[in-house]
Amino acid sequence: MPDLIERMWSDGEVEVLARAVIRAPSVHGSQPWSLNLPERRAELSERTDLGLPEGVLCGRDRLFSCGAALANLILGVRVLGWETDVRVPAGEAPLVAVVSAAGRGAPLDGELHAYTAISRRRSHRLPFASIPVAPSTLESVIGHLPPGVACRVVRAGETGILAALLEKASVTDRDDWGADGLARSGYGDARPPWAGLVRRTIVLPDARTLAHRPPVETIVIFCTEHDDRVRQVRAGAAMQRSWLTAVDRGLAASVLTRPLHEEPVRDRLTAELSLPGIPQLVMRLGYPAGI
Ligand SMILES: Cc1cc2nc3c(=O)[nH]c(=O)nc-3n(C[C@H](O)[C@H](O)[C@H](O)COP(=O)(O)O)c2cc1C
Repeated sequence: MPDLIERMWSDGEVEVLARAVIRAPSVHGSQPWSLNLPERRAELSERTDLGLPEGVLCGRDRLFSCGAALANLILGVRVLGWETDVRVPAGEAPLVAVVSAAGRGAPLDGELHAYTAISRRRSHRLPFASIPVAPSTLESVIGHLPPGVACRVVRAGETGILAALLEKASVTDRDDWGADGLARSGYGDARPPWAGLVRRTIVLPDARTLAHRPPVETIVIFCTEHDDRVRQVRAGAAMQRSWLTAVDRGLAASVLTRPLHEEPVRDRLTAELSLPGIPQLVMRLGYPAGI
């Protein structure tokens, strides 16, 4: 019996891992994952039974969300003092990842910081302060991505291109979503950029507004070299790890994927911005206004 207990997560460890996972960002807050904790493994699977129409909760977003949960799960295992062996299998859906405790190992400083940011992270849907993000801060946020994931910072002169493409995609979005849209937002030009993008009140600033907006926020695009299940999970995990580092550095962030569901939008964005891969997630980063 003691042997069996040694080989299983304790109740306290289960709570730490479950809490870490449940706090991950997910599309529409749907938390489309399940977690099994046999022996000293953590098995994360995607849930396709949540009853949301596929157009609302598409497979890509499910996998990005599971990737975000995976990033939190790994941090949970690490702060419990275990080394991790992480497997993201290619063809075993609904299984997304298996994280095994691989012997004892103290967490690194950066992991502890990222873990403590889990409970403070939330989607920022308000304006940013007029404080630019220093290049060194940005480097700490997006400078350590896993293999196969790259990040492209959108330069000041490029926001118009991005906005024009996203705006075009949002027209289809509004059709998909029914009556809600720009006309009903009531925000006009005073609307904070890209606030609340995935909600029924989805609003994108028009291209001209964004092109002339002072660069108070930093926009980054997470890209992958291929567009398969494993890469989408990794992109979600990389996004979340970056987000936690950003929060630890006093930044706020939010993510957007919906316009990128459309392949022609992804292709044009890749071509027009010379992206280092397929665009998967757009993140806006900055210092929250009013602090
Ligand atoms: C893959 C993915 C896509 C998302 N897309 C959007 C989006 O387009 N617009 C938006 O406002 N929020 C988006 N979100 C944020 C979720 O709505 C948010 O994580 C969820 O409601 C939980 O809130 P929290 O992040 O504050 O914990 C996305 C999150 C994920 C993981």
